[in-house]
Amino acid sequence: MDNAPQITSERNAPPATLVIFGASGDLTRRKLIPAVASLARHRRLPREFALVGVARTAMSEEQFAGSALSGNGLRDYPQLEGGIRYVSGGYDDPDTYKRLAETLDQLDAERGTAGNRLFYLSTPAEAFEPVINGLAGAGLNRAREGSFARLVIEKPYGRDLATARELDAIVHSSFDEPQVFRIDHYLGKDTVQNVIALRFANSIFQPIWDRSWVDHVQITVAETLGVGTRGGFYESAGAMRDIVQNHVLQVLALSLMEPPASFDAEGLRNEKVKLLQAIRLPTDRDIADLAVRGQYTRGGTRDDLMAGYRDEPGVDPLSRTETYAAMRLNVDNWRWAGVPFYVRTGKRLPARVTEVALQFQRPPHLPIPTDQLTELDADALILRIQPNEGISLRFGAKVPGHSFRVRTASMDFSYDKTFREESPEAYERLLLDALLGDPTLFIRTDEVEQCWRIVDPIIDHWAKDRSPIPTYEAASWGPTDAERLIGRSGRRWRNDVGDF
Ligand code: BG6
Repeated sequence: MDNAPQITSERNAPPATLVIFGASGDLTRRKLIPAVASLARHRRLPREFALVGVARTAMSEEQFAGSALSGNGLRDYPQLEGGIRYVSGGYDDPDTYKRLAETLDQLDAERGTAGNRLFYLSTPAEAFEPVINGLAGAGLNRAREGSFARLVIEKPYGRDLATARELDAIVHSSFDEPQVFRIDHYLGKDTVQNVIALRFANSIFQPIWDRSWVDHVQITVAETLGVGTRGGFYESAGAMRDIVQNHVLQVLALSLMEPPASFDAEGLRNEKVKLLQAIRLPTDRDIADLAVRGQYTRGGTRDDLMAGYRDEPGVDPLSRTETYAAMRLNVDNWRWAGVPFYVRTGKRLPARVTEVALQFQRPPHLPIPTDQLTELDADALILRIQPNEGISLRFGAKVPGHSFRVRTASMDFSYDKTFREESPEAYERLLLDALLGDPTLFIRTDEVEQCWRIVDPIIDHWAKDRSPIPTYEAASWGPTDAERLIGRSGRRWRNDVGDF
């Protein structure tokens, strides 16, 4: 039985063993081990903690412990001394799980990890099924009385609604839903959680957070990086599956949902699901007007020339995978009827920025001559999720002088300047929550389904469309079709994203 503690202000992990499948992989090295190191540094891990890496790569325990310890500063944390193990073996080989079970029993006896196990699936998606079945085959899906066995699953969770349901069936054949923690690392970011704080810990924003005041909303998740060494993975994903289905729709749901009665896991997730359910599905005929894709080509400056997507390692030279996606969405509910939501994401854009911008309606009447207003944009509230984490309110102010020129000015809140406390890394926060058994910031199965419901028709439409994929030069703001998508309604993308 999963013995999840209630949400608690006591934020230290209980005795437990963290088992990482895919231990020799990129995510483990870049995110998971540093997150463990950071939890240790912040004294969130008890002495009764252990880390077990599992992977196909043959490596000695010393090698794994050595690389985990040295590269990430773990060496300085005595609580991890002697508590790192490595099990190498095939994911479909029952012997791997037999050896894992022995290792876990040994650790319980030696270190007092109390039979608590957090299994983290950080493998390519093809390995999810054999690992889940392997764990169940060795009885590791069930914890003994008073202990927990939990499963953390990385994205992608399926590649469409049908395969997400298949994966759920596999997961649920061995684990109960309360044991399952589906990760979207954006929910671990402090600034994403701050969307909830801003909206619901204050009274001044709530009255303007609806169709009477908001003209439209823009959500941008822009990256400057290309696909790097992940071309092989990215070819089967694309921007819709990689970013829109999860990060973008999660940020959108938190920004637009109704206030939950309480911030427990069910209260919050119920509201997100209700919002996602209210997103109107485009018909096949509308898609060309509502969604745009693009793929980056060679670009940049002479000193910093960036390869085109098709020239990246692991990418098909004739690839039709989108590295950019933009959509116009509508939310059919009382609060948002008639308000358009424009979302866009892309790799190799000119700036790295994630933000939610609410643009407000223009005043009904302006008692100022229009030639004095040329530098005035519509009022906007911008939630900057990264970088320069903070919030800006844009409004018009009189320019000093004898005329009555009004120009856009800004009131800025910056995390850096306001708080001394450091934000934990997203993975650090989520690992701790999973160890504590708090699923609030993890994705429930019905959320996954809703998100696929929304993106599937567009992905299917693009898969059938044989016309050439629109392109954009690396370091530009995406294909020209994206300008048309928003320009059709007389609006335009914010061109100063990331500024404050
Ligand atoms: C991951 C995607 O989920 O998020 C990557 O697979 C992307 O393609 C990354 O680069 C972006 O995360 P962050 O935290 O850097 O915004």
